[in-house]
Amino acid sequence: MSVADRIHEQWRERYSDQIGRARDEVTTPALLLDLDVAKRNIAKMADNFRDLPAELRPHIKVHKSAELARMTVEAGAIGVACATAWEAKVMAESGIEDVLVANQVVHPDKVRVVAETAREHRITVAVDDPRNVDQLAAAAREVGAELELLIEIDVGMGRCGVRDREEALPVAERIAAAEGVRFRGMQGYEGHCMLEPDRDVRLEEAHKANAKLVDAVDFLAERGHPSEVVSGGGTGTWYITGAHPRITEVQAGSYALMDCFHGNLVPGGFEVALTVLGTVISTQGNTVVLDCGRKSVGIDFVTPPLAHHPDGEVRFYAEEHCLVDFPDRPPLDLGDRAEVLAGYGPTTVNLYDVFHVLEDGVVTDVWPVNPRGPGPPA
Ligand SMILES: Cc1ncc(COP(=O)(O)O)c(C=O)c1O
Repeated sequence: MSVADRIHEQWRERYSDQIGRARDEVTTPALLLDLDVAKRNIAKMADNFRDLPAELRPHIKVHKSAELARMTVEAGAIGVACATAWEAKVMAESGIEDVLVANQVVHPDKVRVVAETAREHRITVAVDDPRNVDQLAAAAREVGAELELLIEIDVGMGRCGVRDREEALPVAERIAAAEGVRFRGMQGYEGHCMLEPDRDVRLEEAHKANAKLVDAVDFLAERGHPSEVVSGGGTGTWYITGAHPRITEVQAGSYALMDCFHGNLVPGGFEVALTVLGTVISTQGNTVVLDCGRKSVGIDFVTPPLAHHPDGEVRFYAEEHCLVDFPDRPPLDLGDRAEVLAGYGPTTVNLYDVFHVLEDGVVTDVWPVNPRGPGPPA
């Protein structure tokens, strides 16, 4: 049994009293996954990609769920992208055949994990520094594995990635010279474009970013380092980057669950599959207080609203309290349940052990969030 399956068994046991409950009967706060909606989102994106030149490699950081990852691959995705070495280990051991860590792996423990995982699984890691190439190559050699590498170039976000094509060359040369690693291609993540509200500006900025990536790919190819993979894109740009004839794969992942962060900005008709269920613990005049505060809802970038009460205005998330003001007498009374949207999917999900998986309004299973937090799997 894989680590992921063992953990699933443990959580299923721990949460067994929740399984079979109706949506409103779950102990709060709880992370609700409407599986019917998630399935529709996954099928929609798979359909979109049937008409696009690029393949889909969904980023799993939003859900950290082996079950959801497997569903996206069954729908046609070529593999998954991860943010951490630990996520990559869980995903590979859960049966995902082509796993990319779309991020730099530097701490020796994490370097060892990706190298060991690569002994039996296909693991690719993003790099932007020749010294990191040496580290990864040495670890791979030590355990008799081969790691594949994508050179990351910064395409405008200003995060990781070599700053220009000239800086990519010594990294490629180091990869070519080292045993234990193999050059697979390039990555450029246009994160700065994701939330640009003006569609024309987003298009223009993403085109610029993709042009920089492809130019670097050509620059390296002309110098003897051809890329078989050119990877980029996210939920905010899937339709732009996925349509680029030279980009081979898109790392969009949040579309599967959706959140307020992406909201209406993302074309494709994706629906919200993720909410947090709370209970009204106090009613004071036109204000109700729910038990799902910022320890239960990731509020990065936005103040997430109530799901089914457009009149209710969420004023504030305290640690364990969500304060909602209504224009007059609230439709919610003491003990009632209400759902709030996830502000940002990844930092909401990361607060929970499990998703409560709902089918037809009933909890049919709990799916682990694994690895939860930044560290190793449970
Ligand atoms: C490297 C990388 N690729 C892709 C994504 C896209 O993920 P999402 O689908 O949530 O936009 C992200 C998001 O942060 C990322 O950091």
